[in-house]
Amino acid sequence: MTMKNRPHPRPSHPRRNAAIVGTGAYLPERVLTNAELEKMVDTTNDWIITRTGISERRIAAADEFTSDMGAAAARMAIAKAGISPTDIDLVILATSTPDTIFPSAACRIQHMIGATRAAAFDLQAACSGFLYGMIIAEQFIASHAHETVLVIGSEKLSSIVNWEDRNTCVLFGDGAGAAIMQAAPEGKRGLLATDMGSDGAQTDILHMPAGGCRMPITPEVLAQKKNSIHMSGKEVYRYAVGAMNASAERSLQLSGLSAADLQWVIPHQANLRIISSVTERLGVGMDRVILNLERYGNTSAACIPIALHESSESGKIKAGDNLLLVAFGGGLTWASAVLEW
Ligand code: UT7
Repeated sequence: MTMKNRPHPRPSHPRRNAAIVGTGAYLPERVLTNAELEKMVDTTNDWIITRTGISERRIAAADEFTSDMGAAAARMAIAKAGISPTDIDLVILATSTPDTIFPSAACRIQHMIGATRAAAFDLQAACSGFLYGMIIAEQFIASHAHETVLVIGSEKLSSIVNWEDRNTCVLFGDGAGAAIMQAAPEGKRGLLATDMGSDGAQTDILHMPAGGCRMPITPEVLAQKKNSIHMSGKEVYRYAVGAMNASAERSLQLSGLSAADLQWVIPHQANLRIISSVTERLGVGMDRVILNLERYGNTSAACIPIALHESSESGKIKAGDNLLLVAFGGGLTWASAVLEW
């Protein structure tokens, strides 16, 4: 394949804006409701709704993997963008649940969708992964190194949830979203400003302890369910509100826009209370916030591209709208972007 790769020119052209030119999403069929969770752990529908805003989430089939969901979302984004898979120069898959630690699930997707010219890699920034991917894609496009980049967020979180832990199992779901990025077409400004950051001092408040070289899988590790999501919910909550707010403020300032100029905010869908604290601090009413966590829960890196796709398909988001995307996740990581749709 290498021989078919397009050479990377390093021309002295001025940087150009990148834009999303097509989106796609895939949600597995199986719906897991709060009522069903009431039968699995000591919880109630009322607790889950009032503390998180989540009513139901999707669960992938046993033989349906992160790469399958990512490829389905990618195919839709390719069709919406009106491009051919062979136009794609780079595939970036943001995920915390790759099919295998290596090779990357991005390489599987590259093959599944026939993006034969593309380089492909997985990106690990937990729930901020899609925005990290978008920001990386922007650099390749702005510098003229690439014309077309596919950015995907796909997660099978159900495979790393401890279904006996009520603190976490009610929160997460499976799904995928994708975006094709290219140079902003004539008359469109695309990405106006971005921000990303991380704080590695906080690795242990949201993590999966086992499964990497630090704690290989052994019968003891499996018995203790250390190969599943562990989270100090309250600490993550507090950090999330501050970090998302600061990042959003930075992107807004860099973009030259104010909160009043935004038609829509698309936040990471972890908890309705986190979202309302962040948007309240920004001075954006909930009537300008895109939400899907009620139906899908927290799908980590897939939340934002799924929300982008659904809200642009439904006509909520219109060409020319100013959007703020903002995310937060394990690492800890955070990222935001202001763009003209
Ligand atoms: O994607 C990125 C990362 N993740 C997040 O952003 C999640 C951030 N954190 C949160 O969203 C919230 O902290 C949670 C939703 C996880 C928890 O909400 P909380 O208001 O912070 O509750 P809490 O952890 O303080 O727990 C309050 C009580 C506890 O009982 P006691 O100690 O007061 O008796 C928990 O044991 O609620 C209990 N509890 C539950 N009760 C019923 C915890 N989980 C459940 C549950 N059902 N599922």
